[in-house]
Amino acid sequence: MTRDREIGRDARARALSRPRRRRTSRRAMPPRQATVCAQGAERAFEVPRTTPRDVTRSVVPPMYPSTTYARDENHELPAPSGRALCYARPDNPSVRACEETLRALERGEDCAMFSSGMAAVTAVLEGTLGDSDGTRTAALAPRRGYFAVRQKINEYCASRGIEVVTYDPSSYACDVGDEVVSSADARRREEGTSLSRTARAFAERFPSTVFGLIWIEPTANPTWDITDIGEAMQIVQEQRGVGCVCVDATVLTPICCQPLVQFGCHIVMHSATKYLNGHSDVVAGALITKECDATWEKILHHRKMSGPTMGSFDAYLLSRGMRTLDVRVRRQSKSAMYIAERLQELFDEWNGPRTTLRGIVLYPGLRRGEAVGGCSSESTYDAHAELLCPNGVYGGMLSIVLYIMNPNASDSSRVLKTAELARLFASKTRHWTCATSLGGYESLIEHRYSVECKPGEVHPHIPPGLLRLSVGLEDERDLFDGLQQSWTHVVASN
Ligand SMILES: Cc1ncc(COP(=O)(O)O)c(C=O)c1O
Repeated sequence: MTRDREIGRDARARALSRPRRRRTSRRAMPPRQATVCAQGAERAFEVPRTTPRDVTRSVVPPMYPSTTYARDENHELPAPSGRALCYARPDNPSVRACEETLRALERGEDCAMFSSGMAAVTAVLEGTLGDSDGTRTAALAPRRGYFAVRQKINEYCASRGIEVVTYDPSSYACDVGDEVVSSADARRREEGTSLSRTARAFAERFPSTVFGLIWIEPTANPTWDITDIGEAMQIVQEQRGVGCVCVDATVLTPICCQPLVQFGCHIVMHSATKYLNGHSDVVAGALITKECDATWEKILHHRKMSGPTMGSFDAYLLSRGMRTLDVRVRRQSKSAMYIAERLQELFDEWNGPRTTLRGIVLYPGLRRGEAVGGCSSESTYDAHAELLCPNGVYGGMLSIVLYIMNPNASDSSRVLKTAELARLFASKTRHWTCATSLGGYESLIEHRYSVECKPGEVHPHIPPGLLRLSVGLEDERDLFDGLQQSWTHVVASN
């Protein structure tokens, strides 16, 4: 072959392997999530600023503590982004800046901030169930998940005569918990208590009652059971009149999952106290809606009339926190995966027929396969996890469950002993602070049983040996070393 022909052939091969140049569109691509986080929606989208132009041209948007706004000579109110500013309870430019960023990150139509996550939950209840006459509306809520939200739904509905129907999040994690604590849940699940089966069975029994609200916590705190959000949307298609599917995405954040666009849910709720702020120094909540419909109007009306608004300094801090959301959550998720895998190896090496004290890791990103327990739902868990977090970013939360295999011990003595060992573990762990909450830059460890249960109680959902871990931004090897040392200490003291 001549050298020229060789060169020609190489050039053709190079041309074929080169990615085809796309025809450039005149329309600019919307900015990606990391850009929206870093710049805030106003700058990333080059939309008119909510705030008046600042004469100093400050790169950091100023904070607006003012509670009121001056009218001009024609008695007109200022409206820098098309929405008039009159009084700070419903409208504050610093709060509006947070709302625009979060709306863009979740790709919704509007966002409303609240003074806490629980205030946002209450607004959803008011908007979806508030004007029910109590006879034909029910709420569908999970049996496991953040306890204060479940309690709030129950209390709110009880006071208005609204029935709360509960379902089991489809889960692998809880099968492990059942083996450790009780088998009651496993039996109920066999009888069919998943979201869709529960909803269908209820509709058959009470055909004239509609679900005003379906509440979902896609990775249930603190066992990380995964709910198939698609099941809820199927129920919306099948049953006429379902009011609202609301997803508490506090733990996943829009970096892992965007329920409005992935599944078509109606509302996403966040405790912004956690990952969105990320610095453990703000209490706040948020709702993002897919559509500005009648339910959304009721939610905004509730906020305006009841006043659970966010302060401007908190809004300033939250905007600042969200600048690093993308980079924090990705890093925390990577570290959580590393720690979950190392812990699983540690427990796999240790657990055996001769060991009475054993350990399990619960993390949505861990492949379940058939490795643990031989449970029939193993591949369902993996499939749901992938659907939920298609980018393979599963968040920074995981749990360890310590448990004692001793068939001769009574349930309550086993529970007390396990709880004591778990508390010892938490108190001994270097680099982890023993405290509640989650989503900050610092790693936290918490014994949930001590928070949610009475001593010795056999709780159906909270194993006495469960330790909830919120992975921070420290080096993941230090974090794992701390946990490994604690495990060694606890094993030696058992
Ligand atoms: C999943 C989840 N939802 C809601 C809340 C309530 O949020 P807040 O404490 O901001 O009121 C929390 C708080 O821990 C939570 O973890």
